[in-house]
Amino acid sequence: MKLASAKNRIIFPLDFASLGEALKSVSLLKNHVGVFKIGLELFTACGPEAVKAVKEKAPGVPIFLDMKFHDIPATVKGAMKSAAGLGVEFITVHCDEGRGLLKAVAEAGAGKTKVLGVTVLTSLSGADLTEIGIDPKYKTPADLVLHRARLARLAGCAGVVCSGQEADAVREEFGRDFLIVTPGIRSATDDVGDQKRIVTPYDAIYSGADYIVVGRPIRNAKDPLIAAEEIAKEIERAIENRGG
Ligand code: C5P
Repeated sequence: MKLASAKNRIIFPLDFASLGEALKSVSLLKNHVGVFKIGLELFTACGPEAVKAVKEKAPGVPIFLDMKFHDIPATVKGAMKSAAGLGVEFITVHCDEGRGLLKAVAEAGAGKTKVLGVTVLTSLSGADLTEIGIDPKYKTPADLVLHRARLARLAGCAGVVCSGQEADAVREEFGRDFLIVTPGIRSATDDVGDQKRIVTPYDAIYSGADYIVVGRPIRNAKDPLIAAEEIAKEIERAIENRGG
């Protein structure tokens, strides 16, 4: 696999409060990453205008609208239709409202936007799950991730968001035809920040992730372009060692 394909697996989150800052990063990184992610911070500040502006600045680069929807099915279905109308490649919905919600959203996005189920946030540890009242039968986040991934699959979602620590189990159970997007990416020297279930870019891809979300390790690097290039090289090595 060529490095061009490796860099296409990097999703860069535009976690900025202003469109100006976001677009600066888009200009800088558009040839070094594969997808731009617009999440709660930028979308709350700028709305659909952000999607339009990023598309204009980086034509052809897919957009991931990471809204992490969480509401009753009718409301989320409507929101999903609006999102699909923006021409985005990916959208997220939390898995913890069950199959009815996931199905409504997957159907509303069908053929236009790939719906990803957010299983268990990478900022949560096993202890956090106990604290928020998750049944202790899910002894590890991986147990709950797999349970929720099954719901997402049954509902017709294109894939899931999970940590690299669960990627191999998800890949093993669901095969190649189910997308795995992995945030919580950190190398040994990176600041961990609020992320808890972290893995390196190499380990995430080697474990079966299709895409990795890498924000602060690129954004806060001395040279973000070099950081992105190094990550792409790691991805390429992982793909080669994994055998495709
Ligand atoms: O690499 P960094 O920790 O900066 O990445 C943060 C980004 O990853 C944010 O945009 C956040 O929404 C996203 N994300 C996450 N955990 C998830 C899903 C998405 O951190 N489970």
